[in-house]
Amino acid sequence: MDKLVIRGGNKLYGSVTIGGAKNAVVALLPATLLARDVVVLENVPAIRDVKIMLGIMSQLGAQVKRLDKTSFRIDTTHVTVQEVPNDVAKRLRASYYLIGAMVGTFGKADVSLPGGCDFGVRPINLHLKGFKSLGVNVDIDNGMVRADAKEGMTGSSIYMDEVSVGATINVMLAAVKAKGLTIIENAAREPHIVDLANFLNRMGANVRGAGTDVIKIRGVEELHGCTYSVIPDQIEAGTYMVAAAAAGGDVTIKNVTPKHLESITAKLLECGVEIEEGDDEVRVRRFGELKPCNVKTKPHPGFPTDMQPQMVTLLALAKGTSIVHESVWESRFRYVDQLIRLGAKINVGGGKTAVIQGVDGFKGACVNATDLRAGAAMIIAGLVAEGETEIEDIYHIERGYEDVVEKFRAIGADIQRRYYPDEDDLELRA
Ligand code: EPU
Repeated sequence: MDKLVIRGGNKLYGSVTIGGAKNAVVALLPATLLARDVVVLENVPAIRDVKIMLGIMSQLGAQVKRLDKTSFRIDTTHVTVQEVPNDVAKRLRASYYLIGAMVGTFGKADVSLPGGCDFGVRPINLHLKGFKSLGVNVDIDNGMVRADAKEGMTGSSIYMDEVSVGATINVMLAAVKAKGLTIIENAAREPHIVDLANFLNRMGANVRGAGTDVIKIRGVEELHGCTYSVIPDQIEAGTYMVAAAAAGGDVTIKNVTPKHLESITAKLLECGVEIEEGDDEVRVRRFGELKPCNVKTKPHPGFPTDMQPQMVTLLALAKGTSIVHESVWESRFRYVDQLIRLGAKINVGGGKTAVIQGVDGFKGACVNATDLRAGAAMIIAGLVAEGETEIEDIYHIERGYEDVVEKFRAIGADIQRRYYPDEDDLELRA
């Protein structure tokens, strides 16, 4: 078993370069199926979710070739497989984008229900509602989503009862090939929705309005290959911003889109952190005390739920009381017990609201990365904690953060990945 081991107390100085956005690329990769041609994707992050998705694409029959560290050539011309079994699909949430992409490409998809981080119930009713209104016969049978549109799909008007990133993306993927006009109302507006729309349009689709809550898609007969560069990861950038704010120091975060970071920047300013925005970088400085503030997570352009654990960790070190309300996920405070092990004073009421009483510092301990962003929060806590913090279950972190040890070391953190033998290794040696 590998753990991250952090000796806290170093301020952070220097610069860190952000990779491509996880939640964009995991939609763009299935979308390449629609082209039935060669796509070159650039600025692809070196994270586990990408490896898994590329593995699935290869199993489906796509020819995947790495061109350099961040570019891949994906040829989907000869893909014919229309089924994704459970052992593959359960490895990441985004496997459900293969439903929309396959229905758009073949008029058929059998994809096992997805995995992903555990935040309580994660329904897919809105994905199914969207497919049905395009004329797709879709059912869940033995843990498989079986979708059939052999008679073809027809554009229609779909109102999303909740703002859902996944459902908006899945309907976009199918609707680009439906006859006529599809209108998605109350659509998600995240930067990765805009990135997907731009990518689909580059492949010949006709998608308008992405980034607003009404997306209009006029179906086309065929799409084609292209070269496309994935947007920078808003959440990776936000994580390094909060890390610099928590540890103190002066860090420039490069290859970012400052507009995507506005809600995070606004909250850090409220906490007394200095932020300077450049064209494609932000500089984060913190030397004084951290001030408390209240945060409510919301769909974009609100404060992202995927930054909530990192922000709670920062506020746990502020002078005073902060309240953080999670309004996207039913159960996203499970990691709080881990912060309490390090000395944080946090009370979670009703599963959705955390009352945080700032403390002067943390003390190192052994903690778990209970999910991806919770893992990022543990790193931030470890950077500040006195003594040594060990983080277990780091595979969660590697799903979404590329070169996390190297990037933090480059800005002065004392962090390393260490191998610890577990029971199985010991048995082998006996
Ligand atoms: N919802 C429904 N019905 C549906 C779909 C969603 O009621 O059919 C509800 C959910 O229960 C939730 C809300 O709508 O309360 C938002 O869910 P959404 O569909 O937007 O989430 P998702 O698509 O499953 C993506 C990201 C998550 C991120 C959320 C919210 C990917 C692969 N995942 O999930 O990212 O938290 O959007 O922004 O894009 C992460 O990167 O750490 C992560 C968990």
